[in-house]
Amino acid sequence: MLVEIFPDYETLSERAYEIVATLIRRKPNCVLGFATGSTPLGLYRRLVEGYRRGELDFSKVVTFNLDEYVGLPPSHPQSYHHFMWENLFQHININPSNVHLPNGMVDDIEVHCDWYEEQIRRAGGIDLQILGIGPNGHLAFNEPGSSLGSRTRIKTLSQATRRANARFFGSEEAVPRHAITMGIGTIMEARRLLLLASGRAKARAVRAMLEGPISAMVSATIVQLHRYAHVLLDAEAASELAYNHHDGISEPFDVH
Ligand code: PGA
Repeated sequence: MLVEIFPDYETLSERAYEIVATLIRRKPNCVLGFATGSTPLGLYRRLVEGYRRGELDFSKVVTFNLDEYVGLPPSHPQSYHHFMWENLFQHININPSNVHLPNGMVDDIEVHCDWYEEQIRRAGGIDLQILGIGPNGHLAFNEPGSSLGSRTRIKTLSQATRRANARFFGSEEAVPRHAITMGIGTIMEARRLLLLASGRAKARAVRAMLEGPISAMVSATIVQLHRYAHVLLDAEAASELAYNHHDGISEPFDVH
């Protein structure tokens, strides 16, 4: 595991950009796993700027998002479809047919989840999966208790997650109760993981992820088993760590 700690959110986002931009330049048809939430916004803003400066070409890039709320149409302002188009896809030259997100409006969710997994396989697997971490230590919507071998499926959102996301919906009651999410097993098959965490609200979850025992109760702890997990933290998110993970880091792993 490679852990890098930055003074603040902006320097963390700059580093995330450097990593993703390097991959896109070296492998123009790379498969990227994207995440929603506040944390990757600094990265997405930089990807848009990089495209506008002519540094990045997304025409062959393929993307898969981690999750989507059940019951929200793609046009809903809080759907993750909408989030991704609003914050990234509409500003870059991505081919819409290369963009994949789970669809929270399908009739047969199980069939849809199997189809989603099949699309990832057919694309050759995910080269780099971007991840956030919830204050409760979840990865995507793999809430506490999620099987560490799970695949894409429907999950009931925990109260903590609905509370954390109430800020986008106006109230906790308005937050959907279910989501389709890539499973932990799905995420672990990505060739590389790039997990971003910022702010004091994440400090306990970050400590559990990096220093706690691997547990289904904190799904992010599974990154300890990934061969190429790269974790970028700002000083606040790193503030509860007991061990100096940053010590001795020279070069991050090469981009494959
Ligand atoms: P955030 O969400 O980036 O908005 O904090 C992360 C998560 O809940 O996984």
